[in-house]
Amino acid sequence: MHGFSYQNGSLHCEGVDLSVLAAEHGTPLYVYSSATILDHYRRLDAALTGVCHEVAYAVKANSNLSILRLLAAEGAGFDIVSGGELFRVIQAGGDPGRCTFAGVGKTREEIVYALEQGIYSFNVESEEELCYLNQVAGDLGKIAPVAVRVNPNVDAKTHKYISTGKSENKFGVDFGAVAGVYERASRDLPHLRLRGLQMHIGSQLTSIAPFIEAVEKITPLAQELKDRHGIEFWSIGGGIGIIYQESLASGSADWWAGQAEQDRPLSIAQYGRELTPRLKELGLKILMEPGRLIVGNAGVLLTRCLYEKKGSAKTFKIVDAGMNDLIRPALYEGHHEIVPLRQPTSDARTTVDVVGPICESGDFFCQNRELPDFHPGDCIALMSAGAYGFAMASNYNSRPLPAEILVEGSLARVIRKRQSRDDLIAGEL
Ligand code: LLP
Repeated sequence: MHGFSYQNGSLHCEGVDLSVLAAEHGTPLYVYSSATILDHYRRLDAALTGVCHEVAYAVKANSNLSILRLLAAEGAGFDIVSGGELFRVIQAGGDPGRCTFAGVGKTREEIVYALEQGIYSFNVESEEELCYLNQVAGDLGKIAPVAVRVNPNVDAKTHKYISTGKSENKFGVDFGAVAGVYERASRDLPHLRLRGLQMHIGSQLTSIAPFIEAVEKITPLAQELKDRHGIEFWSIGGGIGIIYQESLASGSADWWAGQAEQDRPLSIAQYGRELTPRLKELGLKILMEPGRLIVGNAGVLLTRCLYEKKGSAKTFKIVDAGMNDLIRPALYEGHHEIVPLRQPTSDARTTVDVVGPICESGDFFCQNRELPDFHPGDCIALMSAGAYGFAMASNYNSRPLPAEILVEGSLARVIRKRQSRDDLIAGEL
């Protein structure tokens, strides 16, 4: 489900006209639907009914305080990857005691901060890190709760930059070495508490098969660690893919309903249906770390067309958003649907490249795509930009970061002001 549809010829987010928001707040502009975020969170939570579980939202996907607050109020835990993300969760009223801290390169300062805040678990990515954590915890007279991240060597069949569960990836400890690491930790590292086990095989997975393969491969290890070391949780990571090529015409995620089950993209229901019976018997608390699934389809990036440039080979629509605002097409060949805010009145389409103002040839949102016609002055929406959109935005080319708006029904709230030129140089000497 997502909260974007045409109403009276104009694209709306829930009950709010996006053209009005673009006129009032300027472009580029991120707009999020709170109903979509809550719907995805609740459906995932419900899909695991029958297994003791917790949803730890992966903050990296979208770390705006208002979104964290929305999810904290809903009962979410949080998966963090830096001291900065922990700070954000705390500022948003989230419970550090429900935070898991992932990442291959935690610094001493971050470890100390997380220990002082009493996080639920450090998800440790190497034996070296485990030893260092033990040392820092000892220095502070504390016990660090830990889970080792197992690298199951499973092919997630996703873009190579967001695949994490293969042996050649930098993440986690090799499957065959994990049991020995727990043995050594329980014997030699007294400032640790072995609390769980973690895995995450990649992001934007569009089939259930790699999840099943990984869960089936790791289950005996999880059982062994529970029996020998009394671990209480197993985090099966995030990675559930979303549909980027969703048709707006239907206004819902059910547009593939006519297709055979095996041809449909991964759904929350299928994820729950396939994994719940495989996880139930273990008696461990199951953590999930979804990021994209919760916020991806819930956000759009609005941008205005500045120029139309007809070259000898191509027609370029030059818009006021750039790869600094949404880097996914440039970095991962990510596809984002592009729709005009004014509903097209004819079926006419032209083949265009939609490009930004940045001085790089990789600065495009689509190439050779057939789109309904739009002209300089018109606004378009880059769909499904709620995850890894603003979170990966930068000031490249000295462009201020866009504003962000959260919609709830017919109410639109600015949840982050557009940066000013002064903001751009703040902190520079
Ligand atoms: N847990 C861990 C340990 C992770 O590394 C990640 C994502 C997640 C959970 C959340 O994964 P999700 O449910 O969102 O797939 N910037 C890329 C995605 C990078 C994902 C990094 N890790 C993109 O825009 O596609």
